Order: sequence, then structure tokens, then C-alpha cells
Amino acid sequence: MDFVKLEIKGGIATITLDRPEKLNALNAVVLNELEETFQELKGNEAVRVIVVTGAGEKSFVAGADITQFPSMSPEEAQDFAKRGQTVFSLIESSSKPVLAAINGFALGGGCELALSCHLRFASDNALFGQPEVKLGVIAGYGGTQRLPRLIGRGRALDLLLSGRMIKADEALQMGLVNGVFPQAELLSKVEEYAEMLMAQGPKAQALTLRAVYQGIEATLIEGLEEEASAFRDVFKTEDRIEGATAFIERRPPKFRNR
Ligand code: COA
Repeated sequence: MDFVKLEIKGGIATITLDRPEKLNALNAVVLNELEETFQELKGNEAVRVIVVTGAGEKSFVAGADITQFPSMSPEEAQDFAKRGQTVFSLIESSSKPVLAAINGFALGGGCELALSCHLRFASDNALFGQPEVKLGVIAGYGGTQRLPRLIGRGRALDLLLSGRMIKADEALQMGLVNGVFPQAELLSKVEEYAEMLMAQGPKAQALTLRAVYQGIEATLIEGLEEEASAFRDVFKTEDRIEGATAFIERRPPKFRNR
């Protein structure tokens, strides 16, 4: 692959968007490669947690590739938005936890890519924003939908209408990121967090993701129904026997993803 690098080590798959000369901006090739990588990881049982990051120390992803915009017709623009949305929805629907390690600019499509991940951790030099309005356009890879769902409508509209950039500490305060680390420690801290996730029940995590993401789109009554059926499904697993047995035997559980 030209722009997306994959490294798998000890259960953690690290995907690096690698187009640093363009601050890892997303073009059609990058989106295709990202999609292919996530499809490949879906069926890889050795992988328990996925980390998405950007190459270099300056940028996670500086957005969709703006050079495509001038010649785009309205119909092509709709297809363009749907293409990005499809790839990001694939990321969000991963049954393995997906962590964004945001190592610099997360602007436009870069912020939207981070939003499609389940958890976000930033370096202290990271900068976030949805600057599309500055270009006279709007967010099209899920920003108008995922941002208000994550941080609330008022905060989302602040970012989406002003296009202003915010630093990592403000992103943390808004709930846009789960943690901030010094740049040099970002990947190791995210790996530490991934290790903590890997010690828990994988089937339970997949069902938690399902219940949370389906529930957030539903009424409370429907969401509770979804939770009860996920609770039923987790009781079909071998891991739930192991979890309870390990507790009773006072030892750490050995989950087998079964
Ligand atoms: N699309 C295409 N190319 C991009 C890009 C994007 N979203 N963001 C950065 N680049 C390119 C620049 O054109 C430049 O290419 P060049 O060296 O061939 O001229 C290269 O990446 C480096 O960027 P540069 O602008 O020189 O770096 P900077 O440090 O001065 O500024 C930013 C960094 C992020 C502030 C600036 O690049 C920027 O505003 N990018 C666009 C952000 C944006 O609006 N994203 C949303 C798009 S919908």
C-alpha cells in the first residue's frame, strides 16, 4: 500500500496514515487503502485492538484533499461525502476497539476520522477543528452528525460554524478526546491503554460497542431492549464462564474470545 501502513504486534494493529508531505490528507487512494486495511483486520483473530495514527510529528490527518474540490460537481460532491462516510462507518462498526492516536493536526476529515474511532487520545501539540466553513463548504465525512453526538450540539456548532482550531487541552475539556499525552509518549501510552483493553473479555467488549452504538440511535426503551439482548448474547460465550470462574478462583481470567 502507498499511503497506509499496517503493523501488527502482540494483538495490537497499528494503522499509520502515511502521506506526510501532504500532512496525511485523505484522497481516494488513502480511503481505499484504509477500507481495505479495516476489512482485512475484521477477520484477523490475532488482532484485539486497532490503533489509528498519522506519520510524522506534525499531523494526524489535515483533512480531505482540498485539491479535489474546485472541479467537483454537486453530484460528485455527494458521492465524495458518501465514500468517506462509508469508510468511516466501517471503522466505527468494528467489533474490536479502535483507538485514535492523534499526533498533530486533526482537521476536517481528520477530526471526522478520529470521531469514527471508539476512543481518542491526543498528543499535547494536537490541534482539532472542522475548518470546512473557511473554504465555504461543510463537513461531509460525518462531522455534522458524530460531533454533536459526542460533545453536544452547542459545542459542536461552535466548532462547525466558526471553523476555529482548538488545542488538545480544550479538546479534552470538551470531551472530544479521552486523554492527552506528551508527543513523545503518545504511542506508548496508547499501547498501554490497549494492553489494558486486551486483558478484558473481547466478546463482552464487542457486545458493549454494539449496545452503545445501537442504543444511542434509539429511544431509551429500545436501547434497554438492545442491552438486554446483548446481555443474553454474552451469556452464550465461554469467556463469561472463565470470567466468573477466575474471580472465584482468585486468578486473572484467560479469555479466549469464544
Ligand atoms: N488537502 C490537500 N493538501 C493539504 C491539505 C489538505 N487538506 N492540508 C495540507 N495540505 C498540503 C499543503 O497544500 C502543503 O502541500 P505543498 O507543500 O505541496 O504546498 C502541505 O500539505 C503542507 O501544508 P502547509 O499548508 O504548507 O503546512 P502549514 O504548517 O503551513 O499549515 C495547516 C498546516 C494544517 C494549517 C494547513 O495545511 C491547512 O490549513 N490545511 C487545510 C486544513 C483544512 O482546511 N482541512 C479541511 C479540509 S475539508
